[in-house]
Amino acid sequence: MSSLAREIGIAEKVAALGASWHPSEPLAAHTSLGVGGPADLVRIHDLGRVAGLVGFLCDRGVSWRLLGGGTNLLVVDEGLRDDVVLQLGRSPNGVRFNGHRVEVPAAANLGTTVMECAKRNLGGMEGLIGVPGSVGGALHMNAGAYGTQIGDLVRAVTLCRGPGGQIEVWGPSQARFEYRHSSFAPEDVLLSVSLELPERPYAEILARIKQCNQKRRASQPINEKSAGCIFKNPAGHSTGKMIDELGLKGTRVGGAVISDLHGNFIVNRYGASAADIFRLMDLIRERVLKAYGIELKEEVIVWRNRM
Ligand code: EPU
Repeated sequence: MSSLAREIGIAEKVAALGASWHPSEPLAAHTSLGVGGPADLVRIHDLGRVAGLVGFLCDRGVSWRLLGGGTNLLVVDEGLRDDVVLQLGRSPNGVRFNGHRVEVPAAANLGTTVMECAKRNLGGMEGLIGVPGSVGGALHMNAGAYGTQIGDLVRAVTLCRGPGGQIEVWGPSQARFEYRHSSFAPEDVLLSVSLELPERPYAEILARIKQCNQKRRASQPINEKSAGCIFKNPAGHSTGKMIDELGLKGTRVGGAVISDLHGNFIVNRYGASAADIFRLMDLIRERVLKAYGIELKEEVIVWRNRM
């Protein structure tokens, strides 16, 4: 058990809350990029007890980071020194339907949710079909593809907020979404979301899903380890196109390579470290700045230690 856990007795409290405690858990195993050092991880299954856990961590002055599907995440090789990682277990409740309204647990898989809604003749989410990860993670960064952004479909979000671990329900005036950004703080634990979806024939939804899948397969390295697009698109530009125009596809640093299929994807092809990926990102940033005068912003969420 880590020294942090010993000091604050977290393991005992976690067990009392019915959660599981995983000291020095290798985060590489929890990220789609397959890199990242260890951190103390708490997996909590009973959503009704999240507030108790968050309140306890606040009382002890322990900060936390939320792990969703780990599909848009780059963790440093040294791992996390001070923060605990919180992960919600899959809710046994699953998705609940009420007319056009759908209540989805934050830990639900996004793609599975799209398909479950489709079977009930509820569309609007088709573009999100190939976006990997959890619904909560998608909400935090307003995931989007092929004209759909999850934030556009949100009617309410139930979340647990620090410092007291209070449960709040946010409507559209509080839960706000922009391009790959939301009004949630990184430590807000999203518990569930209420979506409003248009009714459409199942066959129509399926046809659109198929079309999006085909486009994605043709243009993104879906069979390699990646975190999706690594940089945001600056207004009016496609970062992937700029990287492509600069002839950088296929560039390799250590085990990390710029995908030959899409310039804005870095793939972990040869056992990359996070350091390899950071070096490749720096190289891209420098080349794009020099050629286009544009400063790229990270789209991937990066977990570094605080100074
Ligand atoms: N393009 C190239 N070369 C490349 C990549 C793209 O010439 O290597 C060209 C394409 O041919 C197209 C244009 O650039 O004309 C735009 O490409 P694409 O349709 O692939 O879209 P994107 O702007 O590169 C965005 C999102 C993706 C999302 C797709 C599809 C960002 C940073 N990326 O990519 O999201 O899947 O649109 O809607 O917003 C992600 O969020 O991780 C992600 C991959």
